[in-house]
Amino acid sequence: MVAPIIEMHDISKRFGHVQANADVDFTLRHGEIHAIVGENGAGKSTLMKILYGLYQPDTGEIFVNGDSVAIPSPRRAMRLGLGMVQQHFTLIPIFTALQNIILAKEPRKFGALLDYQQGEKRIAALAAQLGFDVPLNVPVESLPIGAQQHTEILKVLYHGADILIMDEPTAVLAPQEVEGLFNCMRSLKSEGKSLVIITHKLDEVMAIADTVTVMRRGQTVASCPISDTDPATLAEMILGEPVIPTSVTREHTENTTPLLRLENVTLSGSVNTTRKRKWKNAITNRQSDKRYLDEINLEVFPGEIVGIAGVEGNGQTELIQVLTGLRQIDSGTLTSNSERIAHVPADRHRHGISLNDRIDDNFIIGHHRNRRFCRHGILQRKSIQRSALNALDKYQIRVGDITHPIRTLSGGNQQKVVVARELEANPEVIIAAHPTRGLDIHAAEFVHTRLIRARNRAKAVLLVSSELDELLHLSDRIAVMYNGKIVGTVKPEETNKQELGALMLGLN
Ligand SMILES: Nc1ncnc2c1ncn2[C@@H]1O[C@H](COP(=O)(O)OP(=O)(O)O)[C@@H](O)[C@H]1O
Ligand SMILES: [Mg+2]
Repeated sequence: MVAPIIEMHDISKRFGHVQANADVDFTLRHGEIHAIVGENGAGKSTLMKILYGLYQPDTGEIFVNGDSVAIPSPRRAMRLGLGMVQQHFTLIPIFTALQNIILAKEPRKFGALLDYQQGEKRIAALAAQLGFDVPLNVPVESLPIGAQQHTEILKVLYHGADILIMDEPTAVLAPQEVEGLFNCMRSLKSEGKSLVIITHKLDEVMAIADTVTVMRRGQTVASCPISDTDPATLAEMILGEPVIPTSVTREHTENTTPLLRLENVTLSGSVNTTRKRKWKNAITNRQSDKRYLDEINLEVFPGEIVGIAGVEGNGQTELIQVLTGLRQIDSGTLTSNSERIAHVPADRHRHGISLNDRIDDNFIIGHHRNRRFCRHGILQRKSIQRSALNALDKYQIRVGDITHPIRTLSGGNQQKVVVARELEANPEVIIAAHPTRGLDIHAAEFVHTRLIRARNRAKAVLLVSSELDELLHLSDRIAVMYNGKIVGTVKPEETNKQELGALMLGLN
């Protein structure tokens, strides 16, 4: 067997009352691709952040090439040959890719002057070798997510990493881009690098990994070569119990009038004030305004789930803003045949909940004027609590004390609160943006069941998601957005990920 390059022994780490890692062992072998899988909150990121020197373990020991080491900082980790691409990128948005990559390791001429040319040459060569097409001299904030990720990887390699850790790198990518990432990983492996990839997706594990480690509730429950396991076994180990997938029974409802209808809806980037518009008309007739939504035609009927696919940033966010009244359209018509619209927002921290408010109060946001919760301007505490407890029970959200601020709940439970609140209000139209993002398998299944049930009760559901599996599983129709347009509408049973991916990348 190949010698271990990294060994972590008995690693424990506690945050307050959460035991994030409990006596974890982890071994990475030279030249392998090692996948770490597990539900949200299983402790995967914590373990890797400890390895990368971002957190200090409470107990345990780390060996690099057989030597016991202390890793008090990422700087030390880098010197040991470790590099990490984190879940949330750490690039400086206004810096170019080149500036980001050479940051803190600027090549010098005559010992003092920055030598960007030398750096650029090396990085361009490295990029070419990995098949990356990254424009090095524009601010990274203007690059698509895929290219930003390439920048992160280049940065880590430029700093000399032999061991590359990637925390959920595929979460932000389209299927074709995932294949590109995997090719890059394979090519790094063939050069003798060792790689760790954290992912939720078992098909990815099977496709890329040599070895898999399963974590559950802060512990490693298994670690084995990929040839010794299969997705069903892995899923069972991740959950600690067999998985029973929700079956989608499509109950046909007679389609009459759509609950939502968009006709030639266009939203452009101009600021919507009269003064600005007047000024613009007077001076120029610029055509340069970006069209966030470009002549969108879409209908959602009662009793159907319409999925919206697309690489992030192609108009999905704006579509939701327009549908939920957060932004006014520039032209076209938008008809909604119901007032009762529920919205499960993509960014739950900014739009879904109020982090510092009590859990029970978060249940009535948006419904606080309802007579059940408020009489003569006075909040009805008892009634609010009763209804919150009811919903918590129904949605299996475990909390210690409903009077505590909601920020004390895990991200998954916060999301469940939002879903519970929105669906319990008995809406006719449900607009759900990435409703299972960040949820573990159980919680995601739960949300799926709820959306299907709503659909079967003749509600209209618009589902925006970056998870193709989710869209294929739930939708009756999938509309693909690219560059503000709907470039195709397909039925799940008549399409596949490749076709969707091609549409998402504007290849058709
Ligand atoms: N910096 C932190 N402060 C407090 N709690 C944390 C912190 N980081 C992680 N946790 C908690 O530790 C547990 C494990 O988290 P994490 O390692 O991020 O899991 P995973 O990456 O497997 O989803 C979770 O319950 C999480 O809420
Ligand atoms: Mg994580």
